[in-house]
Amino acid sequence: MKLLAYSLLDIDEYMQAEDTNRIITLFKRVYRIQEEMIHLFSLLDTMSPKEYQEIRLKLAGGSGLGSPGFNTLREMGSHLWKSFTSRYLDNHDLTVEKIYDDAYTYSDAYMVAEALADYDELIQMFRYRHLQPIQRSIGMGSKSLRGRPVQFLEEGLAHRFFPALWEIRNKMTDQWASKHGEVRDPLRE
Ligand code: HEM
Repeated sequence: MKLLAYSLLDIDEYMQAEDTNRIITLFKRVYRIQEEMIHLFSLLDTMSPKEYQEIRLKLAGGSGLGSPGFNTLREMGSHLWKSFTSRYLDNHDLTVEKIYDDAYTYSDAYMVAEALADYDELIQMFRYRHLQPIQRSIGMGSKSLRGRPVQFLEEGLAHRFFPALWEIRNKMTDQWASKHGEVRDPLRE
């Protein structure tokens, strides 16, 4: 998470400079780290619930919510979005709608927007994968060491760092549906 956070800081600087190639290249590193993080959860699946209870006794009130790495990632979301919108959109009189729809050209702005969407998606996958070892060890019906019902973590699955990049897909689908109909004819009768 520390390496992720530092890479995102670099990406933020390259966004200020509108250096798209460096942004895309660094995002590749970010995705690989994210994939490793997701993949490594399977190691925890080999631990029995009984073994985890022993580890848990040593955790006191420790919580993933206090993770400095994850909290930095949380903060980075708004920094990245601010840099993206000011440099790639406002600076060029563009909007999310334009780059995805009206003025869609696979532009630099579109490429960077999609790189942000990929990052957002992998955070979702991390959050989802994190639930599996919890189900296997303490169970989703229990309380965290800070006394919160573990189920609240499911709410995190709906969180998006860059909601505008997801909302545009709804909007475009609605527009297409209003023009071409919501339901299409089957390919074969
Ligand atoms: C058996 C293993 C694990 C269990 C039982 C577990 C359990 C939990 C619980 C109960 C919470 C909620 C915290 C609270 O209410 O204070 C939480 C949050 C969190 N955990 Fe874990 N965890 C495990 C492994 C991990 C690992 C390996 C990582 C890091 C790679 C991690 C990262 C996090 C993060 C970042 C949060 C905050 C999540 C968010 O805000 O969506 N956890 N975990």
